Amino acid sequence: MKYFIIIIIFYTGVILAQEKKITPEEFKKAELTFKQKCTRCHGSEGRAFGKNFAKMEKKELRHLTEDMMFGPARLNPTESEIKAMIEYLISLHSDKD
Ligand code: HEC
Repeated sequence: MKYFIIIIIFYTGVILAQEKKITPEEFKKAELTFKQKCTRCHGSEGRAFGKNFAKMEKKELRHLTEDMMFGPARLNPTESEIKAMIEYLISLHSDKD
């Protein structure tokens, strides 16, 4: 019984850690980073993103965003900076609808 409770607590922590939302400050920072590091290739508001951007799964988007941040943008983002950038990119896209 004791172990059962420990396991439940452990998995609740794992789930909460994954669901951790980014703060408005992190979002603002991602917006600034995008303007400084990404617009020269993608245009302001990410106009240069392809059509399949809309249909992209979060996992794929995450992979691409990470590659872009470490690659052409020459950043060294933390986990939450990557998450914030993804949220920002999604928000850019939803503006266009
Ligand atoms: C040096 C130019 C350059 C910079 C800087 C750059 N990108 Fe890209 N990015 C590209 C090119 C080119 C592609 C298309 C490449 C491909 O499909 O493999 C791309 C593709 C993407 C895609 C996939 C979208 C799609 O429609 O295929 C995302 C998302 C993305 N970039 C985000 C970013 C973010 C976020 C930054 C800033 C941190 C950034 N990029 C900086 C050149 C750049």
